[in-house]
Amino acid sequence: MTALLPLCYILGSITFIVGLKMMSHPSSARTGNAVAAAGMTVAIVGTLFLYRNGGHGLHNYGWIFSGLILGGVFGVLAARKVKMTAMPEMVSLFNGMGGACAALISIAEYRHSGYAGPFTLAGLVIGSISFAGSIVAWGKLSGKVKDFAFPGQHVFNIAIFLVLVGAAIYTGAAGTDWLFYAIAGLSLVYGVLFVLPIGGADMPVVISLLNSFTGVAAACGGFLYHNPVMLTGGILVGSAGTILTILMCKAMNRSLTNVLVGSFGGAAAGRAGATGGAYKEMAQSDAAVVLAYAREVMIVPGYGLAVAQAQHACHELERVLGARGVNVQYAIHPVAGRMPGHMNVLLAEADVSYDRLLEMESANDLFAHTDVVLVLGANDVVNPAAKTDPSSPIYGMPILEVEKAKLVIVNKRSMKPGYAGIENQLFFQPKTSMLFGDAKGVLQQLIGEIKALG
Ligand code: TAP
Repeated sequence: MTALLPLCYILGSITFIVGLKMMSHPSSARTGNAVAAAGMTVAIVGTLFLYRNGGHGLHNYGWIFSGLILGGVFGVLAARKVKMTAMPEMVSLFNGMGGACAALISIAEYRHSGYAGPFTLAGLVIGSISFAGSIVAWGKLSGKVKDFAFPGQHVFNIAIFLVLVGAAIYTGAAGTDWLFYAIAGLSLVYGVLFVLPIGGADMPVVISLLNSFTGVAAACGGFLYHNPVMLTGGILVGSAGTILTILMCKAMNRSLTNVLVGSFGGAAAGRAGATGGAYKEMAQSDAAVVLAYAREVMIVPGYGLAVAQAQHACHELERVLGARGVNVQYAIHPVAGRMPGHMNVLLAEADVSYDRLLEMESANDLFAHTDVVLVLGANDVVNPAAKTDPSSPIYGMPILEVEKAKLVIVNKRSMKPGYAGIENQLFFQPKTSMLFGDAKGVLQQLIGEIKALG
């Protein structure tokens, strides 16, 4: 029987890798998730019933199944109820739970063996930081916690971190009980202070970084228990989180240091009031005619589309235009919205076909042949200042070059700036017309007008 357990772990590890690979494409991502979850189930069930230590299996099934049921029910309900725009919050909360688990494993192991080895200490420190940081990130994203910083906080944070490392090394060599728990407490304080000053809108990058921390903490648990599936899972989460953090920073053309200690948006917001000149406004009926008689239309979705929950109306517009022979595609910027893949997931939820979603590079090749670009609640990701204005905070960020198209219609509610807090010259260009209003309402009216054209 016990020979079956390593098999379960190998199966679990393989499914994590295959599942992760499948998540790299929207059409296979859902199945990939299910494959990895099935592998995790095999690993958990295997551990529960096949694990043997000195001939004995696990005994505290009451506790284990209570935890499984509680966590399972909470997880399913939370995932079913969550709104697309609140997804980063949920990811943050779940990530925090992972960090807490890793820290608790270290505490249990310490109490059990009375010895704090390097993996016990690393799991304790990293897991606690990840837990506390993720909870603060969750609070910020849900508007419950405000940004907070005091002068010299970064120096203070570095000092705490150095004390933590010193205390961990000392505890590993000749530690005492109180020092072990003091390290846990100090790690929690560090996690809070590390995330508190970072701007709320930068939280997705921070969550991705904390996610990689949780992965590393779980991998420490794998080393502690010589458990290959924990190790594989932890390493995959750790490396995937790190890669994602780097990709997000690259797509925003910002260094990680700038995200962690900079103030994107805040510093630039002062320039938002500068006037960019005159802009043109378009009537709903004119926009409907222009779209209905175009051949190639490119929709650029952004954060505003997600806020307005206008994805279904957007798909309906695509269908109505498609019925008239208009070819409608979507240009997806890697950091459009507020989390990685935000637009892909949002449009997939509305059953938009994956082949209509174009990545930035392909879309940029097609804009010159596009009759109408319809920008829906996107701003920074179509701001030409990223290419033309070296003084702009987004200079160097790759953007969707919508200005190459014959006509650009921009839907948003006002002339207010987006996430980066800067004005967008696109809105003042001769080819651009503004179509003001909430994305959902505007789309519904456009659909009505186009249908009425017959
Ligand atoms: P933004 O630049 O934030 O612009 C969104 C626009 O949507 C706003 O200008 C807003 O203008 C408009 N809007 C808001 N509610 C709306 C509604 N109900 N109907 C219509 N429009 C509405 O968004 P973006 O272009 O998607 O760019 C994303 C930004 O977030 C980038 O700067 C990126 O670096 C940053 N970011 C992204 C990520 C990831 S991974 N996606 C992570 C962190 C940061 P009004 O207020 O005038 O309506």
